[in-house]
Amino acid sequence: MARAWSLKARPQGMPKHTDFAMIDLDQSTLGAGEVRIANRWLSVDPYMRGRMNDVKSYVPPFALGEAMQGGAVGEVVESNDDGIKVGDMVLHMAGWRDEAVVPASQVQKLPALNVPPQAFLGQLGMPGMTGYFGLLQVAEAKAGDTVFVSAAAGAVGSTVVQVAKAKGMTVIGSAGGAEKCAWVKSLGADAVIDYKSDVPVVKALGEAAPKGIDVYFDNVGGEHLDAALAHANMHARFAVCGMIDVYNSGAATQLKYLARLIGNRVQIRGFIVSDYMDRAEEFYKDMGRMLAAGTLKRQETVHEGLETMPDAFLGLFSGGNTGKMLVKV
Ligand SMILES: NC(=O)c1ccc[n+]([C@@H]2O[C@H](COP(=O)([O-])OP(=O)(O)OC[C@H]3O[C@@H](n4cnc5c(N)ncnc54)[C@H](OP(=O)(O)O)[C@@H]3O)[C@@H](O)[C@H]2O)c1
Repeated sequence: MARAWSLKARPQGMPKHTDFAMIDLDQSTLGAGEVRIANRWLSVDPYMRGRMNDVKSYVPPFALGEAMQGGAVGEVVESNDDGIKVGDMVLHMAGWRDEAVVPASQVQKLPALNVPPQAFLGQLGMPGMTGYFGLLQVAEAKAGDTVFVSAAAGAVGSTVVQVAKAKGMTVIGSAGGAEKCAWVKSLGADAVIDYKSDVPVVKALGEAAPKGIDVYFDNVGGEHLDAALAHANMHARFAVCGMIDVYNSGAATQLKYLARLIGNRVQIRGFIVSDYMDRAEEFYKDMGRMLAAGTLKRQETVHEGLETMPDAFLGLFSGGNTGKMLVKV
């Protein structure tokens, strides 16, 4: 019998272990056009917190008591589809479980990029694509720009740092703690801010970018967004990707420097990675080139076993990951 995590109760504030429950999945028969996948790698992502609330959003909420969904990579062990063979490694959205049965039309064979399969849940997958298109298309970042990126040691942020450097930009990253900051520096960042130190982000950013910033890639919101507004240059572009600082509290952020966007003609744009899914080939091609040139580094924080999935998920909100947070089944 396959096992899956379900949401038992909708979390209030920071989720607790008791909000999750393991359930059995009866999927002994395989329908026409379906494939059975032994999941090897499961993704936990901050956006999943939003799916735990019963509110209308760009993805529907998780249904209580049912198997949760999320990115997963696994090996096909049974197939009723001519295009997908037993042994194929595929990417799909029936995560949070050890075995998935899904229509073949909902799985994607892994692109041939000569990287380990789990990379397609991180730098070469949804988070990487978010960083890539958010930086280059949403913020319209170009060579010579000074880019500030928050949560720079995470899956999205570490991609932003490296793509920006590869494209000739000056990069300032922020991350929590000396060890993560050292890793971000090793990715090529010109300066790194430890937002957990005693120095307020607005002061640290002023020192790191004395001539101001042209682009802010926001993963965090709150104090980071306000600091970016305080140091935004004329015609700066902000790509608002995420606001993990408020995902659990839901609290509105006080922005002291918001009015700066008027005089400096700052452009702020939110986006969802799915806006760029039809350009995936462009992403694989360009990232493939950077991989081949040896300019991309990747790190993963791996929890072992399906049982650890809630731990891995909760760890995203306390900085438990460097690079992509994953569960190995
Ligand atoms: N718009 C989209 O389509 C899209 C797609 C994917 C992801 N996102 C967003 O992008 C952001 C990054 O996602 P990811 O998957 O790459 O996750 P991640 O950065 O790998 O993991 C989350 C990181 O956020 C940092 N963090 C947690 N709470 C924080 C707080 N209160 N203040 C500052 N930093 C905090 C932690 O790093 P530290 O140790 O450095 O604090 C943690 O490691 C999230 O906001 C996510 O929702 C958006």
